[in-house]
Amino acid sequence: MNGDSPTGTTAAASTASQKIPRHVAIIMDGNGRWAEKRGQPRIMGHRAGVEAVRGVLRGCADAGVEVLTLFAFSSENWRRPKKEVSLLMELFMTALGREVKRLHKNNVRLRVIGDIAGFSKALQKRIADAEALTHDNTGLTLVIAANYGGRWDVTRAAQQLAQRVKDGELTVADITPERMAECVSLADLPEPDLFIRTGGESRISNFMLWQLAYTEMYFTDVLWPDFDAQALQNAFGSFASRQRRFGRTGQQVAEMSES
Ligand code: IPE
Ligand code: IPE
Ligand code: MG
Repeated sequence: MNGDSPTGTTAAASTASQKIPRHVAIIMDGNGRWAEKRGQPRIMGHRAGVEAVRGVLRGCADAGVEVLTLFAFSSENWRRPKKEVSLLMELFMTALGREVKRLHKNNVRLRVIGDIAGFSKALQKRIADAEALTHDNTGLTLVIAANYGGRWDVTRAAQQLAQRVKDGELTVADITPERMAECVSLADLPEPDLFIRTGGESRISNFMLWQLAYTEMYFTDVLWPDFDAQALQNAFGSFASRQRRFGRTGQQVAEMSES
């Protein structure tokens, strides 16, 4: 939706009377540099990154965040050295296998977005099994973006709508922002309220291009494996201090929140 995000006008859950985002989307960047700084191979940074995920997941669940989306592997990350890519795939396999029981026990619902067909059959099966096991859980939704690209997501939505026009179900004029929003990934969930990128780069790197239209952006130099509970609180604090206007004036928004 281009107008009011449902997340902008409803009262968010709060801890210590602070506005808490319903949906947090994170680019977990800086694993490689974290390891290189320690004279270790890059994969050690990725391993440490998995540990950081655990802490952030707990912090988000405790704060009342409903959806946590993590960018784990982009459609462009295939360009990395073969060795790093295969180690990342291995890590993804083992982490999924190891963590899924714990996620399930904690009532977390796991979802994976991205072009899963690009992965090995074994990994595809592990993903499907994890999603099926946790499907009916009612706690936090953890979304892993894997072989994901924002352009892929928008293109796929366009293809779905083009097919429906071809089939005579829709006319060209029926293709509206609202219809597009129904076809991109995570259409059934609130749009991200807070975007976090660790690792010091200020770019989106083909993350959720459509969904981030009105998201509050937060960039930090902290490398992902060092992103701890305090770092998460800092991001929440920054989010809480912002006025989301969705195109209106600051005065209008202030008046709306008074009434
Ligand atoms: C992010 O860390 C994790 C993935 C992209 C898989 P990087 O591996 O990009 O770490 P840096 O940016 O090289 O430090
Ligand atoms: C973005 O990080 C992708 C993930 C964190 C999975 P990159 O490290 O791949 O981004 P660029 O290449 O620096 O833009
Ligand atoms: Mg990087």
